[in-house]
Amino acid sequence: TRTIKLAVIPGDGIGPEVIEQANRVIDAVLAGSDVALERTEFKLGAERFLATGETLPESEQAAIASHDAILFGAVGGVPGDPRLRSANIERGLLLKLRFDFEHYANVRPCVLFPGVDSTLANPGTVDFVVVREGTEGPYVGNGGRLRPGTPAEVATEVSVNTAFGVERVVRYAFETAKARPRQKLTWVHKTNVLVHAGATWQRVVEAVHAEYPEIAVDYMHVDAATIHMVQNPAQFDVIVTDNLFGDILTDLAGAIGGGIGLAASGNINPDGSFPSMFEPVHGSAPDIAGQQLADPTAAILSAGLMLDHLGLAAEGDRLRAAVRADRAANGAARRSTGEIGDAIIAEIPASGTPLLGA
Ligand code: NAD
Ligand code: IPM
Ligand code: MN
Repeated sequence: TRTIKLAVIPGDGIGPEVIEQANRVIDAVLAGSDVALERTEFKLGAERFLATGETLPESEQAAIASHDAILFGAVGGVPGDPRLRSANIERGLLLKLRFDFEHYANVRPCVLFPGVDSTLANPGTVDFVVVREGTEGPYVGNGGRLRPGTPAEVATEVSVNTAFGVERVVRYAFETAKARPRQKLTWVHKTNVLVHAGATWQRVVEAVHAEYPEIAVDYMHVDAATIHMVQNPAQFDVIVTDNLFGDILTDLAGAIGGGIGLAASGNINPDGSFPSMFEPVHGSAPDIAGQQLADPTAAILSAGLMLDHLGLAAEGDRLRAAVRADRAANGAARRSTGEIGDAIIAEIPASGTPLLGA
């Protein structure tokens, strides 16, 4: 028996609702296998902060670090809630984990499953993956406000791009492209305006490309990339981009792939020095929380990425086959969070079943 230690952070709003279903699906996929999951739940997020004033105590971060992987729901309250202004749960918890655990490859696949309605009328075959840099860029918090609250206020938010940080994510993206049939990589930036960071990205992409001559590389400015993603998403295979551009492009990708309720992600630490963290792309959705209205599929597919990462790719494939079968059968139905979980569990193929297009 192999024991896997899983840290679970359900979070706020719909986070616990979708994580409940993801946990059920993981258990159903692993039933009868020789893998034993040991879960530890960490109650972190806006709710915890409002109750105790704590965001991420050091001892809890150390405890989380001792697990093999992290399953994360979503955190955050109603945008603009004044009681949360001082806390900034998103920075103090989510980004702190991504930064401290060196989740430099934020992997966000966009696959339009048969039976799923895209926001686009004629999307074609959509199957691409965005590799979003996860530890640098404008997210680092480098900046400040001078003379706050005065007419002379100046705010800066400096984007930090190190050769080390850019190279490791670009290399990861080339490896991702190499493992896929189309052998194509699109890098996205705004080199016409952000000339300094743009030049660093360009230099690194060109240097690493020399090691992967079989991969076809193209470049798009980020604004144009949104046009191409809407007009012809089928052209993309792997996209690599910085932290902020990747954030925005992956919400757009979520809409293209059938909605944010289907968009999965993995915050990957490829070196294995800290646990990787798997979470839906969406947030805590306070507007629908507590009503079992959330689609848990994004969280479930994130659990599938986690199984892959843990070396359980056959189990990940069975999970995705179940999601595909559920969508093909029930794609258009209005269902509760729990009903979607039930239906996906009912579609899990027996282990050893040959899978088509998983
Ligand atoms: P959001 O993703 O929570 O919601 C955007 C819209 O999508 C809402 O209308 C919501 O109802 C809908 N939606 C989201 N997930 C859904 C699902 N699974 N099924 C059906 N509909 C879904 O983004 P927001 O409203 O900008 O943010 C709400 C809070 O979440 C904020 O506090 C924000 O900072 C936080 N947030 C957290 C994360 C995270 O923890 N990873 C990610 C994004 C936002
Ligand atoms: C995401 C979220 C986070 C991000 C926020 C909540 C910090 O939007 O995971 O996409 O910007 O990365
Ligand atoms: Mn986002």
